[in-house]
Amino acid sequence: MPVGYFTDSLHSDVRQGLGTAPRTLPPKWFYDKRGSDLFEQITRLPEYYPTRAEHEILTRRAPDIAALTRAATLIELGSGSSRKTRLLLDALTAGGTLLRYAPLDVSAAALEEAGAAICRDYPDLRVAATVADFETGLPLSDEPGPRLLAFLGSTIGNFDAAQRRAFYRTLSLALSSDDVLLLGADLVKDPGVLVRAYDDAAGVTAEFNKNVLHVLNRELGADFDPDAFDHVALWNTEEERIEMRLRSRLAQTVKIPDLDLSVDFAEGEDLRTELSCKFRRESLTAELKEGGFTVRHWWTDTAGRFALLLAVPN
Ligand code: SAH
Ligand code: AVI
Repeated sequence: MPVGYFTDSLHSDVRQGLGTAPRTLPPKWFYDKRGSDLFEQITRLPEYYPTRAEHEILTRRAPDIAALTRAATLIELGSGSSRKTRLLLDALTAGGTLLRYAPLDVSAAALEEAGAAICRDYPDLRVAATVADFETGLPLSDEPGPRLLAFLGSTIGNFDAAQRRAFYRTLSLALSSDDVLLLGADLVKDPGVLVRAYDDAAGVTAEFNKNVLHVLNRELGADFDPDAFDHVALWNTEEERIEMRLRSRLAQTVKIPDLDLSVDFAEGEDLRTELSCKFRRESLTAELKEGGFTVRHWWTDTAGRFALLLAVPN
């Protein structure tokens, strides 16, 4: 990334998101080392089913994915710990086609840890990791094709509809006709199950949510008191999405010296930190079509909670 990119982007996100109400922050700022570790803990919580559901699908379908794509390069966006990815690496290695794994993430800490483990466990594989922001373009280069681009975990759900449209455009510009997209998407289900997945009994998701305040304190000299905010996960029925918020427990003023900014929160005022959209087969297939991709395969876990789909450029 260009020198200063992350500082500039944090400054403009915070100025834009906190400068006026309704207050919002983009979820990418959760993921410093502590945030990435907390997310990994979330994936092991009894209430957080998406990781286990996607793992179940990958366990069953990775050999099919390897046979259908015969990928020489596996690119992964928002790769995090790359834990589930190992199922794909194993199948593509067994199929004899894989040469390179190219994980891309905004979290250097997550890439370093996952990259070291993968280099150790797959000594014949070329691993080329990139720290980048997948919202502002995809720095894909000379990877050997065909390429399989994986975007797992339903991270696509952290975009709203307009951001997803922009993302599909970025993707279709970056991919060529023999490349394939593998997309994980969490499905609409009982709101009780969804809310519990984002408001777990042990309070790990609350810590993850509040981690963004620690990031702003460290990076911008802000004086957020994380205890002065409550973690909130609510189901927005109309938009079919979970919204994570931090609700101010009292009227308070937060100072952000590096931006010369003071933010007044009223008692009960929310700062929205994340959207997690949930999908239906028909509408997701239609928006992908419009975005330049045709869905060829749609697989779910046995309980029908989560979908993994394989799509090709139109
Ligand atoms: N794919 C993994 C991790 C999902 S968590 C899984 O399925 O378990 C989301 C990941 O996306 C994190 O590792 C986070 O650091 C990364 N991420 C979030 N926003 C990003 C952005 N704008 N650009 C690049 N990576 C991003
Ligand atoms: C990374 N992303 C898909 C997760 C999700 O489910 O939206 C992040 C997360 N937020 C709270 N719990 C997990």
